[in-house]
Amino acid sequence: MSADGLYCQPPQLDWSQASGPRAPDYGDIYFSAEDGLEESRAVFLKGCDLPQDWQGKTQYVVGELGFGTGLNALALWDLWRREGPAKGWLHFVSIEKHPLRREDAARAFAAWPSLAGLSAQLLAQWPSALKGAHRLIFPDDRFTITLFQDEAELALAQIEARVDAWFLDGFAPARNEAMWSQAVFDRMGRLSRAGSRVATFTVAGAVRRGLQQAGFSVAKRPGFGRKRERLEAIYAGAATPPDISPVERTRPCSGRVAIIGAGIAGASLALAFRRRGREVVVVDAIGAAGGASGAPVGLLTPRLERTDRPHVRATLAAFEFARLTYAGLDGFYPEGVLRLPRDAEDRDRLALIASRMDAEHIWDGEGLWQPRAARFEPRRLVQGLLADTPVVIAQIARVEESETSVRLLDDGGHVVLEADLVIHASGWGAHTVFDALDANSGQLAVLAGTAPQRAVVWGGYACAAPGGGVMLGTTHVRGEDAGLVEDAIEGLRADLAIHRPEIAAGLGADVLQTWSGVRAVTSDQLPVSGPLAGSEFTARWRQYSTGRMPRIKPGPPGPCRQFILSGFGSRGFAHAPLLAEALASDLSGEPGAFERAGRECLQSTRFAWRRLKRSH
Ligand SMILES: Cc1cc2nc3c(=O)[nH]c(=O)nc-3n(C[C@H](O)[C@H](O)[C@H](O)COP(=O)(O)OP(=O)(O)OC[C@H]3O[C@@H](n4cnc5c(N)ncnc54)[C@H](O)[C@@H]3O)c2cc1C
Ligand SMILES: C[S@@+](CC[C@H](N)C(=O)[O-])C[C@H]1O[C@@H](n2cnc3c(N)ncnc32)[C@H](O)[C@@H]1O
Repeated sequence: MSADGLYCQPPQLDWSQASGPRAPDYGDIYFSAEDGLEESRAVFLKGCDLPQDWQGKTQYVVGELGFGTGLNALALWDLWRREGPAKGWLHFVSIEKHPLRREDAARAFAAWPSLAGLSAQLLAQWPSALKGAHRLIFPDDRFTITLFQDEAELALAQIEARVDAWFLDGFAPARNEAMWSQAVFDRMGRLSRAGSRVATFTVAGAVRRGLQQAGFSVAKRPGFGRKRERLEAIYAGAATPPDISPVERTRPCSGRVAIIGAGIAGASLALAFRRRGREVVVVDAIGAAGGASGAPVGLLTPRLERTDRPHVRATLAAFEFARLTYAGLDGFYPEGVLRLPRDAEDRDRLALIASRMDAEHIWDGEGLWQPRAARFEPRRLVQGLLADTPVVIAQIARVEESETSVRLLDDGGHVVLEADLVIHASGWGAHTVFDALDANSGQLAVLAGTAPQRAVVWGGYACAAPGGGVMLGTTHVRGEDAGLVEDAIEGLRADLAIHRPEIAAGLGADVLQTWSGVRAVTSDQLPVSGPLAGSEFTARWRQYSTGRMPRIKPGPPGPCRQFILSGFGSRGFAHAPLLAEALASDLSGEPGAFERAGRECLQSTRFAWRRLKRSH
């Protein structure tokens, strides 16, 4: 990861030409001055033999180098809507080092009124400049964009996908060498399958030779407009097999999905699988939001860290994805949250973080104002995501796994459900199948009084409760016993008096509501997603866990039908939607939603691997 911060530098743009933006740093334009849209269609779509190449496929993956304004994405999406296979899903995986600001993209899109409907949808999900992977989903058109914001070579190393067609759209090779390096072509080869296509506007000798060296066979074709020639290429090598590692990506598993747990994790999974048209059933001992996801109010806040590390990119991307997921749902109030420092040291830390984050994190002298943060009613969000997913009420005592299916049984030994795979999204309940989880209990209270205009957080928090009153949160107690309610309320009042005396002074004696829940936490404070690592994992990896990685690695794992999504600690609502989307992608054999390094930090098998290494 880079030393120069978590956010990419936006491009310098020159708008002096009527035909569209120009990048003075590269001395080049973003798209043809003659007709950018027609050029995109002629060079990239036709160059990759689209729409013919995706006919008969249920999934098609296009990779792009140089997202720029997103015009190629729009042209491709437009063609997919008109001529994509009826049940297929199109993935666009693109790379950009200098993401445009939303307002600049909007200005560029104004030139293409015929694509106005699509550009408006893209702008509505336009990501921040945060480095790393951003997932944008357009489910009505079965279209997903995963945008990797980083230097091309670094980004390619983080992509987990099998690409069917490549659009090479860097600036002219003579002025943009890093985009056309041998390392870039070699990495493209590793992400290709036999027959993957490449299209580009340039026929530069270095590009032709580089592609050939990476295993592509190249051919010149007549160019668009004033350009005499363009290039097409086909990957002539064999596909590189997927990585085998103790924290390898979750392998695909098709068929009916059973989810244990109707909290935010289970509801996010239900949405992700429903979108893919997969049959999904949720089972819960209590019902929707009956566990930790059932508080009267919650706050959606980003996990703040100073440094650019894989898990920081992943969790901040998850926060952005969660906002998009909840937007428009009942019970979601995107009104911002003020993060107050706990003490002088925390003040310095927050001021430093504000200086390193983007313009949406504002140090206002008193605290860090986060306009993208939100207040929400947890139950309503869970219900909104579950929508019409069937929820069976039953306590699952054990899961029987066979070669071909899983059976979920209650404690009377009755089969509650049979499915092709099961995901334990049962919060703290998952500790019975995954022993790297610990319990941390919390209480909160709604007290009579005048709520603050904006939600404030300092470790504890205070905000408006939906039915009136002030919601005070929250205690943190190790284990499943949250302690006495009276003690918790006294502690919450005392904490508020220190951090927000003016709110504390306005509190009445009445306690309107109390609530407690158990968080599932992990020793590295990150969630867990992926297969349950059983004895097969230990047998496969034991001899390799002595310190040196093996020269000959073990073969691929045997079939697995049990998975986990849990360990969300205090931020389930910020992290579950993207982790669920990513797990559904993995299980459906799609391009990954995270950078490889970020996913590895979240992969469930990391704990079994660490334990194996410690055992020597
Ligand atoms: C006091 C408190 C305040 C919090 N505030 C916030 C906040 O402001 N913002 C935020 O993002 N997060 C907050 N959190 C954290 C958040 O609530 C959790 O991270 C999140 O709810 C976890 O969701 P989950 O779906 O993994 O688990 P849960 O919501 O606990 O869901 C698990 C479900 O599985 C079911 N289940 C378990 N075992 C079985 C079984 N064997 N068979 C059938 N069903 C089973 C349970 O009934 C439950 O419904 C808070 C947590 C607490 C305790
Ligand atoms: C010609 S523009 C892409 C146009 C784009 N496809 C469109 O539809 O608008 C080239 C893009 O490549 C990006 N770029 C240049 N060098 C890069 C690098 N080394 N790594 C990643 N992106 C880079 C630029 O910032 C620019 O957005």
